[in-house]
Amino acid sequence: MDEQIHRPVRVAIIGAGNVGATFAYALLMSGLASEIVIIDSNQKKAEGEVMDLNHAVPLAQPVRVWVGDYKDCVGAAVTVITAGAAQKPGETRIDLAARNVEIFGQIVPKIVENNPNGIILVATNPVDVLSYATWKISGMPKERVIGSGTILDTARFRFLLSQYFGVDPRSIHAYIIGEHGDSEVPVWSAANIAGMRFPAYCEQMGLGCDQEALNHLFEQTRDAAYQIIERKGSTSYAVATGILRIVEAILRDQGTVLSISSLIDNYYGLNDVFLSLPTVVDRGGVERVLRLQLDDQEAAGLRRSGQMLQDLARKLGY
Ligand SMILES: NC(=O)c1ccc[n+]([C@@H]2O[C@H](COP(=O)([O-])OP(=O)(O)OC[C@H]3O[C@@H](n4cnc5c(N)ncnc54)[C@H](O)[C@@H]3O)[C@@H](O)[C@H]2O)c1
Repeated sequence: MDEQIHRPVRVAIIGAGNVGATFAYALLMSGLASEIVIIDSNQKKAEGEVMDLNHAVPLAQPVRVWVGDYKDCVGAAVTVITAGAAQKPGETRIDLAARNVEIFGQIVPKIVENNPNGIILVATNPVDVLSYATWKISGMPKERVIGSGTILDTARFRFLLSQYFGVDPRSIHAYIIGEHGDSEVPVWSAANIAGMRFPAYCEQMGLGCDQEALNHLFEQTRDAAYQIIERKGSTSYAVATGILRIVEAILRDQGTVLSISSLIDNYYGLNDVFLSLPTVVDRGGVERVLRLQLDDQEAAGLRRSGQMLQDLARKLGY
């Protein structure tokens, strides 16, 4: 009988920094969750964020928000990890990655111990390698460990392309795949508007379709985080909205195609690595990874990206 009583929809957030707190706010406003538990090693920061969020509740959606500990991950449909160390001056990317891997070594077992049946969604960088480490540490089925991957890069790409082509970004079908980072790859060969490849669209609209200008849009996409961090110190709104989009696809069992990071096997020579490809996401997490037919240049770029991620994982002991 008890199994028939619906449980409130709980989402746990580990890390109440820029990304975690912004996601919590987006989730609160969305009304998708009835319980949001926030966990951070900096208790005071978590308390401050929760007080502020709770004061929005009477003006928004009825949702219970509280500062919790790992026991509160119990029953969470999704646990989102945004916790991480900040880069120290002069610290290399690998040193930072090593520190975050160490943090994950503490966090992930506590999540799984309390919630073996939920989905873990990782946003902390380097997101692909940390998602792989999460999968290894957790021992969970591969379908239930997801990295936010290139959902953000794909959104940035679509925004810039939408400005260029003058249509709603949601009508632009173009993906960034591979690493969330410097080695990511734009899939020009499949990019389209209403099924029309870009050159055909441009011809019909009387627009110039200059591949150099389009390549520049990709470079702006790839380097966007550096540009934003230089100006405001961190990025938060778009990544939080990307996390929300993934959580929505899970909680509402939408079967949406999103570019997220998951375990890739047997694809253009890549095996045993987390990276992003268009993926069907539903209440089970990864329902299916779509195997795009890439052109030679894209396939070579993806192999390089996967190799780089695998080398980094090995260097970090995974
Ligand atoms: N995947 C993406 O697209 C994307 C985009 C932006 C940022 N990020 C990454 O998200 C992460 C968080 O960024 P941010 O700007 O929110 O950083 P932040 O420094 O503002 O927040 C990190 C939070 O993690 C907490 N924390 C650190 N160690 C912890 C531990 N052991 N247990 C619990 N909490 C712990 C800190 O107290 C802090 O509140 C970074 O790794 C950043 O690179 C990813």
